[in-house]
Amino acid sequence: MSVITVTGTGYVGLSNAVILAQHNKVFAVDIIPEKVELLNARRSPIADAELEDYLAHKPLDLTATLEYETAYKQSDFVVISTPTNYDEEQNYFDTSSVESVIEQVLAINPKAVMIVKSTVPVGFTAEMQNKYNTDRIIFSPEFLREGRALYDNLYPSRIIIGCASQSGEVASAAHEFAELLQQGAIKEDIPTLFLNPTEAEAVKLFANTYLALRVSYFNELDTYAELNGLNARQIIEGVCLDPRIGGHYNNPSFGYGGYCLPKDTKQLLANYKDVPQNIIEAIVKANHTRKSIVAKRILEKGGYPEKQVTVGIYRLIMKANSDNFRQSAIQGVMQRLKDKGATVIIYEPTLKADTFNGYKVVDDFDEFVKLSDVIAANRMTEQLRTVKDKVYTRDIFECN
Ligand SMILES: NC(=O)c1ccc[n+]([C@@H]2O[C@H](COP(=O)([O-])OP(=O)(O)OC[C@H]3O[C@@H](n4cnc5c(N)ncnc54)[C@H](O)[C@@H]3O)[C@@H](O)[C@H]2O)c1
Repeated sequence: MSVITVTGTGYVGLSNAVILAQHNKVFAVDIIPEKVELLNARRSPIADAELEDYLAHKPLDLTATLEYETAYKQSDFVVISTPTNYDEEQNYFDTSSVESVIEQVLAINPKAVMIVKSTVPVGFTAEMQNKYNTDRIIFSPEFLREGRALYDNLYPSRIIIGCASQSGEVASAAHEFAELLQQGAIKEDIPTLFLNPTEAEAVKLFANTYLALRVSYFNELDTYAELNGLNARQIIEGVCLDPRIGGHYNNPSFGYGGYCLPKDTKQLLANYKDVPQNIIEAIVKANHTRKSIVAKRILEKGGYPEKQVTVGIYRLIMKANSDNFRQSAIQGVMQRLKDKGATVIIYEPTLKADTFNGYKVVDDFDEFVKLSDVIAANRMTEQLRTVKDKVYTRDIFECN
């Protein structure tokens, strides 16, 4: 049994903390007191069915705390899962929260082995090892989907461990950590790869950029079909019957979004600074083009340019079962609608406010429908079916 601190109790930190707390003593450190209180009351700060169930019903040795000193002092491992937002001015991830945790751990317990689970730029771990003159930092990318955060760690597609040394104490710790993740999972025989940290960082950014490419590809196919009066569904089905392409992850949308794909694609492009490329840049650009075309089509359906259009935005969430709006594609579409002079109103039942970023929020669905000339919905729902003549969506397969 190991003593482990997980720092940052968001989607990544919390699901890893729960996985590990089944067989180890785990401290979950955060800077938000409300999160710590909720967790110690065995309630999940994020909407996730499996997490809620495990927290409420499983015997877990899990203590949430704000007091990182006490936690780090006792820990064999510190798992770092704090945010790495994209800094639009620096054109790079802001890794300051990860760095500050590394500094705290080195000051309090330099013997602990740190596992970075946050997504970082390619080369970050090597840079930290040089900067702080330590080999005790491992990078292990996280592949979970929001909404299935714990499930994806109970049944992981793979475990990737990036460790600079092949032998010695830190290499043994890297293997031990992989075993702890395997032990916490339900799936057996999980493919497990040991790479160097820079390769492991590349795996994460290339994987997410491929997903963004696939979304963009089917979105661009859909744009082509829509503007030429063709049936996108029939074309996609025909294309995807090739088993090399496959019928998964091919549903058109307003663009790729969420916390990770927009920022991870931009970070990979930044890592290509001195390396020739065409595709990576195109993936970033394709998402802008898609949102512009979607905005244009929404306005046309509403009667633009002949009339002043009110567009109703149905839900700000990215996916049907998402519990947050981080970087959802519809927000980029809203900005474009506003730039064209449209009035934009929002229906979002999880919002308890009259406005969101200056846009009016309408609580009552019938009122929302009445006020809207056209309703833009990234994803179709039962509720919308009764008013489907007003709805603009590209949710062809009606799935995430
Ligand atoms: N959300 C995902 O689907 C996902 C998937 C894979 C990888 N990632 C990566 O994992 C990292 C975390 O993502 P997330 O979605 O879990 O983030 P999140 O925003 O849900 O949670 C981050 C948590 O860290 C806490 N925090 C911030 N600074 C801190 C500090 N100095 N000390 C302690 N706690 C601190 C915040 O209060 C918050 O609770 C990011 O790098 C992200 O790119 C996210």
